[in-house]
Amino acid sequence: MDGCFDLMHYGHANALRQAKALGDELVVGVVSDEEIVANKGPPVLSMEERLALVSGLKWVDEVIPNAPYAINEQFMRSLFNEHKIDYIIHGDDPCLLPDGTDAYALAKKAGRYKQIKRTEGVSSTDIVGRILSSAEHTLVSEKGDESSLNHKQCEGSHISQFLPTSRRIVQFSNGKGPGPNARVVYIDGAFDLFHAGHVEILKSARQLGDFLLVGIYPDHTVR
Ligand code: CTP
Repeated sequence: MDGCFDLMHYGHANALRQAKALGDELVVGVVSDEEIVANKGPPVLSMEERLALVSGLKWVDEVIPNAPYAINEQFMRSLFNEHKIDYIIHGDDPCLLPDGTDAYALAKKAGRYKQIKRTEGVSSTDIVGRILSSAEHTLVSEKGDESSLNHKQCEGSHISQFLPTSRRIVQFSNGKGPGPNARVVYIDGAFDLFHAGHVEILKSARQLGDFLLVGIYPDHTVR
């Protein structure tokens, strides 16, 4: 699977989870900064930060940095011959190049393309929009013009559409609890806009024990 994975979110995690379930090993191509600029506009996070995020996910076995945005002939051959990839996977949203052609046309033609279901309600673009609208809200509040945008309205526009049903939680979990003599460690936080620093601290915390339990503050605590 390849992608930009900018401001990595649960839609990306769900995509990688589904991709891993389609095979034994999951190789992820992280699109280069230059290719993102040329095809979508500048990313928020750098290549190194996006790599740290993707590599930290339990479903990812290997990463290819600086991948092209479109699967071209040369890159596709290197995926098949050097990385021994069987299938190229993408979400079921159309991925078009600036000239309107399909970025996965070659992989589809070669019969080596598979699709997973895109997670509704979240994207990197949507997250940037949420940040901009909360910055706008802060500016309005600082000017003291509370009547034009009240707190309730602002909360409403940020409500996630992700439904953490018990089935979904089981799909995301390891299904493993701590062993009888395990040293269990706990870390808590907001983990808002999950970034490379979060990956680092979670790795460090995990090294202090055999089982890491993570507490996530509720929205009202973070506010
Ligand atoms: N993806 C997904 N569900 C989402 C967002 C992304 O399944 N809500 C999948 C895409 O289909 C793709 C992979 O995650 O296979 C990487 O997506 P990316 O290139 O980072 O795109 P988006 O998150 O959609 O970013 P943008 O809003 O900038 O288009």
